Amino acid sequence: MKTMTKPRDRLRIAVQKSGRLSESSQDLLGRCGLKFRQSRDKLFCFGESMPIDLLLVRDDDIPGLIAQGVCELGIVGRNVSAEQVLEGGPGSVAPFAELRELGFGRCRLSIAVPQEEAYEGPQNLAGRRIATSYPNLLRDYLSQNGVEADIVVLNGSVEIAPRLGTADLICDLVSSGATLIANQLREVVSIMDSQAVLIGAPQDYADERTELRELLLRRIDGVIRVRETKLVLLQVSRAQLGAVLAALPKGDPPSVSRLEAPADTLSVQAICHEAINWQHMEDLKRAGATQLVVLPVEKMLA
Ligand code: PRP
Ligand code: ZN
Repeated sequence: MKTMTKPRDRLRIAVQKSGRLSESSQDLLGRCGLKFRQSRDKLFCFGESMPIDLLLVRDDDIPGLIAQGVCELGIVGRNVSAEQVLEGGPGSVAPFAELRELGFGRCRLSIAVPQEEAYEGPQNLAGRRIATSYPNLLRDYLSQNGVEADIVVLNGSVEIAPRLGTADLICDLVSSGATLIANQLREVVSIMDSQAVLIGAPQDYADERTELRELLLRRIDGVIRVRETKLVLLQVSRAQLGAVLAALPKGDPPSVSRLEAPADTLSVQAICHEAINWQHMEDLKRAGATQLVVLPVEKMLA
């Protein structure tokens, strides 16, 4: 492993230049208060609000840039980082660590077959040609299932391989499923769930970078926390208060106050730290909640 030892007082973070993760990655950094000046080549963006610069690159290059010490941090899909970890072979130590799950860019790595083809289980993969950009993850899945197949490594346009005749099946990322449908393919098994993760060099630095990294991590934690945080307002009769409080999603201790009228009706205000879905709402209603309102929270300072 080669790491740069030259002291640096700025941090570099690499994100995908264009693709599924690029917009959300830059949005997250923006919410952390980072502002960048776009350079002419649109590859390196100078951080104006903090000594943190941005590198816009291909997602597959990000783990390598961290391993070489070019960047300290990067945002990639777990699919990309997991593939590169396996690249090192058994027992090797990854030159980067997963620091945070970021909660966007959710997708899965799946095997898909031509629409009309039958599929009963992994044994149907034996001896077939499978096109993928994730040979290590696929090899791992095949060997865990005791199947031998022919892995055809492609760096893009994996989904057209069966039509071109260069492979029989594919193993690729599926998010909405639109790409598979457009290519008359059918998802038969998902081999890994993925989402965007923040990765970084595992070591501390002797210069300012360690402190900068900690500062950015704290802000990222704040952004993630507030994203799921909701303010819940509701009314409930005194008799049903206990049941309603028990049905509230996880959060800070709620505040309860008495209404002027009707008598014995209480107003509850609660900060909840979980996503609140319709199921939660219906559970609360059944427990006795009325006038139920769920509001997004923009910023929080406890
Ligand atoms: C993935 C995958 C498919 C598409 C699937 O590519 O290779 O092309 O997304 O998404 P869908 O199910 O919503 O149609 P990605 O954007 O990650 O680009 P890359 O693999 O070339 O980096
Ligand atoms: Zn890619």
